[in-house]
Amino acid sequence: MAKILAIETSCDETAAAIVSDRQVLSNVVASQIATHQKYGGVVPELASRQHLANVGQIVDAALEAAGLDWPAIDAVAATCAPGLVGALLVGLTAAKTLAMVHHKPFLGIHHLEGHLYASYLSNPDLVPPYLCLLVSGGHTSLIQVKGCGDYVMLGQTRDDAAGEAFDKVARLLDLGYPGGPIIDQLAQTGNAQAFSLPEGNISLPEGGFHPYDSSFSGLKTAVLRLVERIKAAGSSPPVADIAASFQTTVVRSLTRRTLRCALDHNLSTIAVGGGVAANSGLRQYLQAEAERHNLTVIFPPLKYCTDNAAMIACAAADHFRLGHTSPLATAAQSRMSI
Ligand code: KG4
Ligand code: ZN
Repeated sequence: MAKILAIETSCDETAAAIVSDRQVLSNVVASQIATHQKYGGVVPELASRQHLANVGQIVDAALEAAGLDWPAIDAVAATCAPGLVGALLVGLTAAKTLAMVHHKPFLGIHHLEGHLYASYLSNPDLVPPYLCLLVSGGHTSLIQVKGCGDYVMLGQTRDDAAGEAFDKVARLLDLGYPGGPIIDQLAQTGNAQAFSLPEGNISLPEGGFHPYDSSFSGLKTAVLRLVERIKAAGSSPPVADIAASFQTTVVRSLTRRTLRCALDHNLSTIAVGGGVAANSGLRQYLQAEAERHNLTVIFPPLKYCTDNAAMIACAAADHFRLGHTSPLATAAQSRMSI
């Protein structure tokens, strides 16, 4: 089995991993959260600089943790899109350079394809077709997976991504960054029925609602208005109740669309990926609702839900097995459809 070394630097994690087929030999992630926390979000310039400072030692650490040296590596991969261009360029350029120096083939991998492949790391026997719900800081997508590189986008967010909504609501509640894990934690102590918030349905010109597309910016604005109203009345906002009500609204919206999409397309397996797949509310509710409909749900372990390079290496391994490689001229791109 080919051994792939992959680098991921699309946002605020500097990550390198070595994967053989679907088996993780090493998985190293250096988080930049402490750097960005005081700014309330990722500062792109700081992210690029920190990737640059760390990428060399993270790659060495991945080799060391796997007990391997360069002759044992069959190909080098990196995330090439989408993401912060300056951040992507660091990992991409490092991977291309290492591929050249060590005479290895190179593969540029789409970040979302990586999140999708996270499910294969915990479930190596997963076989398409299946439905993938990708919920991250940049995306909320329902993708029909037909095979390696064969994807049909069935639903998307029309505005904010689910993770972005978590981060923005956490910011307006003064909870810190990144908002997802903080809201998740806080929601467990709050009353989810305390406030009724809009799910964000997309109206269709012919009437009714789009069954799979979502919208989270209206929900974020509803939370903002609620907080303003409570403050104007001289009270302090009950943050745990607001967090719980918000999270439940997002989770119900995602679950409703995902189940409808899976049932409409006769797909009996749902694989979930992206940082929001770490959300405990989503994990419980989607699992329970899917079981009611005799559908199987796969949630990768938390370390493979948030950004990591093992998922990128896993996607690259499948492409490499099929004979795919990428030119060294592959560019970093901030946006790219899967
Ligand atoms: O996949 P990811 O690590 O990076 C992107 O590709 O965007 O996702 C990061 C997003 C952030 O918005 C973060 O707040 C959210 O995932 N997130 C969560 C949780 N853990 C991370 N959202 C809800 N609940 C969580 N437990
Ligand atoms: Zn991601």
